[in-house]
Amino acid sequence: MSMNVAIDGPAGAGKSTIAKKVAKEMGFIYVDTGAMYRSLALYFIRQGIDKDDEKRISEAVKDCNVTIDYVNGEQQVILNGENVTGLIRTEEVGNMASASSAFKDVRTKLVSLQQDLAKSKDVIMDGRDIGTCVLPEAQVKVFLTASVDERASRRYKELVEKGEKPDLEKIKKDIEERDYRDSHRENSPLRQAEDAVLVDSSNMTIEEVVNAITKLCKDKM
Ligand code: DC
Repeated sequence: MSMNVAIDGPAGAGKSTIAKKVAKEMGFIYVDTGAMYRSLALYFIRQGIDKDDEKRISEAVKDCNVTIDYVNGEQQVILNGENVTGLIRTEEVGNMASASSAFKDVRTKLVSLQQDLAKSKDVIMDGRDIGTCVLPEAQVKVFLTASVDERASRRYKELVEKGEKPDLEKIKKDIEERDYRDSHRENSPLRQAEDAVLVDSSNMTIEEVVNAITKLCKDKM
């Protein structure tokens, strides 16, 4: 049986940074499920669809073919034959992804793709519903979180490093709104699985978090 590691948590908790490093350490494949929701969101934006228009979004999902590929160990998301990996990391796409991922048809499409990936391979998968819905049998489940202030300040620094001039208060407000939407939706809301280990990274270094999760994985092997 393949080894499955689920990492869930709110936006900006450092899931992808941590999961990538643990994957490297353990020789597992890293699957970023948020990137899949973002690629669909990009399609909806390009079609000019409103983020709350469930009917049009459900229709549009039928026109989307999402696959993932790996180049030098980095996940690439392919949307209808186009590699959209470099286009999905904007706040606009993130907000559309948060809104549209609440709809059943969007989730159904991506959850089955994610489950297929984990069936035959050792994976570490991050998202919001991995431990609760996508991989309920995962051998290791982690709920990775950090305070809103800490997550906003990390995001702020990231944007400054990219040469942008971000507004910290706006980032904080966006994170709070996203947390609320992700955890209050009807379909697969963000919540800690009963058997998940809670890791609050507010006062931990990246290395400390990676070591803690790697240890959980090794203990299960
Ligand atoms: O992790 P992220 O910021 O790239 O995710 C973007 C949005 O996608 C997030 O706000 C909620 C949604 N998402 C989800 O509903 N389920 C997942 N497994 C991953 C992401």
